[in-house]
Amino acid sequence: MQFFIPNNCRLINKAWFIFFALGLSAAPVFADGPSGVTNIFKTYSTPARAIANYTILILAVCAVIFVIVTGLLFYTVARFRHRRGDDGREPAQVYGSNQIELAWTVIPILIVFVLSLVTARTIAEVQNAGPPSKALKVTVVGHQWWWEIRYPDLNIVTANELHVPVSETAQPRPSFLSLESADVAHSFWVPQLAGKTDVIPNRDNRMWIEPTTPGTYLGNCAEYCGTQHARMLIRVIVHPAGEFEKWAAAQQSDAGNDAQAKAGRDVFFSTSCVNCHTIKGTEARGKFGPDLTHLMSRQTLGSGAALNTPEEVRAWVRNPQSLKQGCYMPDMQLTDEEMDQLVRYLLTLN
Ligand code: CUA
Repeated sequence: MQFFIPNNCRLINKAWFIFFALGLSAAPVFADGPSGVTNIFKTYSTPARAIANYTILILAVCAVIFVIVTGLLFYTVARFRHRRGDDGREPAQVYGSNQIELAWTVIPILIVFVLSLVTARTIAEVQNAGPPSKALKVTVVGHQWWWEIRYPDLNIVTANELHVPVSETAQPRPSFLSLESADVAHSFWVPQLAGKTDVIPNRDNRMWIEPTTPGTYLGNCAEYCGTQHARMLIRVIVHPAGEFEKWAAAQQSDAGNDAQAKAGRDVFFSTSCVNCHTIKGTEARGKFGPDLTHLMSRQTLGSGAALNTPEEVRAWVRNPQSLKQGCYMPDMQLTDEEMDQLVRYLLTLN
């Protein structure tokens, strides 16, 4: 690293050191596969890749302009600085140079023109893509503060975790999402898979993803939608070839009816839980809260507010407000015995 750098120039050596240290610390972010970091530059899906390529081009053009402008600025400051012995008079002024004025008018116009064309092309590429016949169709409904996820062709309803198949070159299987809102404006954003799309009441917005690597991708609601906007997280689980069908088949089944959990079932059906939640194969057909048919197959509770463990399920039912203050699920004021029974029942919903 010594070339171009005079040996006595400590400052520049230090700058190099900081540069490499930053590079190394950022390295895990660029590891292969979904990183658990919502990194817009590490993409695993066709539309996200188009947007990332476009962003890199824009950043590169801006970087070149920045370097030229600051370079000229520093050169001018150094070259024309005040020197001892200056006579203090103003230097000769330049007026009306056609070349200079043409250059600083035409070059920016060309740059803006080219960038507009690239922008239009990228938008068209992402938005005009129609679903192929094999595409998976999903309806995502934003609620305060969770995501309802429906697969109309598969007769599946779930929440907060969008399961899709991987799309391979030999067998492309993109997923087309139809975005609706049950209340206020939200925004669906999983940076490694696609751009952000607003979820607006009385409007059917559409987007698509085409993940090329299996794994779990993180996203979040990207439009302020009230108190728990920050805990309106999304997980997209991309299944390897053949695995998605297994997941779908399991989700299509009715809820288990474990005789040992009967007491808890009775608690569930004797309280107002049934007004808000659906459990397939039972009388519970509420639509206000998440479908609980396969509750325990999910990784998190409360749209990412807590991990889905038996302890957290209990804490959640005991008082949802303690894990997600302001959410619309009330504390049902159950006795400890009813709590135990109810949690035992919920844990059978897998
Ligand atoms: Cu939903 Cu922010």
